[in-house]
Amino acid sequence: MCFSYKNDELYAQDVSIKDIAAQVGTPFYCYSSEKLQKNYQAYKSALAQFNNTICYSVKANPNLAVVTALARLGSGADVVSGGEMHIALKAGISADKIVFSGVGKTEQELREAIKTQILQINAESSQEVETINRIALELGLKANVALRVNPDVDARTHIKITTGKKDNKFGVDWDDALPLYRAAAKMAGIRISGIALHIGSQLLDVEPFRFAFTKAADMIAALEQEGISIGNIDLGGGLGINYNAELPPTCEAYAQVVRETLGHLNKHIIAEPGRSIAGNAGILVSRVIYTKEMGDKKFIITDAGMNDLMRPALYDAWHTITPVAKKRAGLIIADIVGPICESSDVFAKDRITEALAQGDLLAVMSAGAYGASMSSIYNFRPLVPEVMVRGKEFFVVRRRLNYEDMLKEHAVPQWF
Ligand code: LLP
Repeated sequence: MCFSYKNDELYAQDVSIKDIAAQVGTPFYCYSSEKLQKNYQAYKSALAQFNNTICYSVKANPNLAVVTALARLGSGADVVSGGEMHIALKAGISADKIVFSGVGKTEQELREAIKTQILQINAESSQEVETINRIALELGLKANVALRVNPDVDARTHIKITTGKKDNKFGVDWDDALPLYRAAAKMAGIRISGIALHIGSQLLDVEPFRFAFTKAADMIAALEQEGISIGNIDLGGGLGINYNAELPPTCEAYAQVVRETLGHLNKHIIAEPGRSIAGNAGILVSRVIYTKEMGDKKFIITDAGMNDLMRPALYDAWHTITPVAKKRAGLIIADIVGPICESSDVFAKDRITEALAQGDLLAVMSAGAYGASMSSIYNFRPLVPEVMVRGKEFFVVRRRLNYEDMLKEHAVPQWF
């Protein structure tokens, strides 16, 4: 286990969380390199029968050490901005393992991607396809392009992280995909490299994948009948993880669906997992500043806030919260809240928890994905440090910002 108790004390691998807190202060994120590795390898072995590239979805956690850890294992990257492409390359991921997704790639981002000759640009509209063609011709290059098709499938996940329905902004409408492929195939700046889809995140059931992949297989058959050959099938990401008592499908179960729906096509399979690689490889550690009671309600106020981890406020997400040192002082029902001046700054409402006291450390579990990556300096709070653990050692992989760091980009007009 990457995060586990030894003598009632929480450890990350063989490092005591209390010791890290003493050295770096709170709050901080803590990642396990062993767990990142394990999660990556689970995909690799499940998809071993296919020619495959796992393109880690950088948005889940773009820390350079996290991306480097995966790069060293051979991972590719799924990026959604020029910044993410930059970090993937910096981490040592070669261009031929990078896919670029997103509905609103700018000309500048596309130019960089085309110049870098990445594995594939997943285009999401006819205007984007035309823009890619124009830029590629200007550069005297051919861009590798897939269409991200929208299979109109209900991923049965939270409404804010569903992406594969017709009324989402993502992808090319199913009925428009064939004509757009035909047009793109005739463009001199474009090399059709594949097909891409991504139907949503935190999926706890493989059936929506089965539905979408089956539709993709039909689309590929139709394309190839017209002589448009498809090299890569990019399956997107989306496999869920355990936050509370969910039973997410295993990589094996996922791979079985890939086998059943797309196996006969013998294509290069790309998967873009984010959460299922980084999510349970990270925790957010925080300290109780105060506790208080108001009427019947008990509050535990922590030094981490919604600016550090916004998933509970934004998606009503559940994260298990556990004391770093178990005191076994009995259970209470309390709201665990941050210090931000917003009522939505609540990590857990009416949670049955150990009676945490002022000064106690606590850990918010499964915070490795969409935790630090979505954090902000709201309330002018410095971004918190990130620490990576391996075996008995730990390393600060992003230092805590200070006030002057945050002020560096500010400027006051001379008229004051
Ligand atoms: N590929 C594409 C095109 C995506 O849009 C995403 C995630 C992924 C791959 C990775 O999906 P994953 O394997 O992580 O589910 N902030 C939200 C999740 C947003 C997901 C956005 N797209 C959350 O905290 O739940």
